[in-house]
Amino acid sequence: MTIGTVLVTGGAGFIGTALAAKLADRADRWVILDSLHPQVHEGSRPPVDLHPKAELVVGDVTDPAIWDDLLASVTPDIVIHLAAETGTAQSLDEASRHARVNVVGTTELTDALGRAGHLPSHLLLSSSRAVYGEGNWRRSNGEVYQPGQRSHAQFEAGQWDFEDSVSLPSTASGTVPAPTSVYGATKLAQENILKAWGGSRGVPLTILRLQNVYGPGQSLINSYTGIVSLFSQWAREGKTIPLYEDGKIGRDFVFIEDVADAFVAAILAGPDSARPTLDVGTGVAHTIEDMAIAIARYYAAPTPVVNGRYRDGDVRAASCDISLTLETLDWAPQWSLERGVAELQAWIAEELTRKEPAHG
Ligand SMILES: NC(=O)c1ccc[n+]([C@@H]2O[C@H](COP(=O)([O-])OP(=O)(O)OC[C@H]3O[C@@H](n4cnc5c(N)ncnc54)[C@H](O)[C@@H]3O)[C@@H](O)[C@H]2O)c1
Repeated sequence: MTIGTVLVTGGAGFIGTALAAKLADRADRWVILDSLHPQVHEGSRPPVDLHPKAELVVGDVTDPAIWDDLLASVTPDIVIHLAAETGTAQSLDEASRHARVNVVGTTELTDALGRAGHLPSHLLLSSSRAVYGEGNWRRSNGEVYQPGQRSHAQFEAGQWDFEDSVSLPSTASGTVPAPTSVYGATKLAQENILKAWGGSRGVPLTILRLQNVYGPGQSLINSYTGIVSLFSQWAREGKTIPLYEDGKIGRDFVFIEDVADAFVAAILAGPDSARPTLDVGTGVAHTIEDMAIAIARYYAAPTPVVNGRYRDGDVRAASCDISLTLETLDWAPQWSLERGVAELQAWIAEELTRKEPAHG
């Protein structure tokens, strides 16, 4: 069964490339609108392993003329909106850039679909755990509360945790979003814009809130995102991986194959209006230290060292409850941290060898 014509914004990136590998063959056309952002793509070159069927249009989602040109010849049945500025820490200093691409880029998408007079039958958005901020925590007396954002003064004083409390996994159905970064705020804005527009125009929407995605294909040059790729490159060079705060920052690291499979499942299932927003992760939280140790071990690199540094806007603990996603989609995460880390290292070795000039 064909899934028709698919338009993927940001489709030349990490997640888009993995998704094309799984799904492009089932589409009549697989069209990508991507600016080949130089922070992500070395020399603004598209990834070498982009699916051969992908029709790549190089352009910016904030440019209405690009949209009009594109939609004059493409009538998408499915639109997958991945294009975004993704630097969490960077977004505090470059808020306008993040807002322009993530927020205005989303409204340019809806405006352009409106001008073209063609409404897709399914719209999907890759949202982020960043919309939750710190999410919910529970005190030892059982009280559940939202601690809000850690202040600069708290960071300076080395007060990493919220006193007498443990973090709870977030869920789309039970955690009120409260982003602590401009990036997170723009991802929430994307959700709200597409909900409002899709709701009034009758375009069904699925939002996948992704945890920390890692794996082959993640940019090796983007120093603002992809901590696992960065750790891997340092350990590979025999360097000691530095750990921010006390190393106990919590994250749900989910492997790229599992994330791409979640998109495939959501597309093949079609929209579910009762459950438009789903969490995608492993459902298991690890610390940054766990991840760093697994990578250092792989390379027999020095043991990671806590350096007590921090980033304003970072959340202390991020994890999610995936029960609703497991119930809703024909999907379950398959990749353990160890297996995912090993697969990533094999890919990094291949990539770096490919880039080395030939000798002889
Ligand atoms: N990777 C993660 O851990 C993660 C977690 C949560 C959510 N997400 C979301 O998933 C989506 C894809 O992320 P990714 O990890 O593949 O990132 P990525 O940086 O690899 O891919 C994003 C793609 O968007 C393109 N792009 C950026 N600005 C653009 C613009 N103005 N116009 C057109 N294209 C533009 C880039 O060139 C890139 O190819 C993003 O929306 C991101 O917010 C990612």
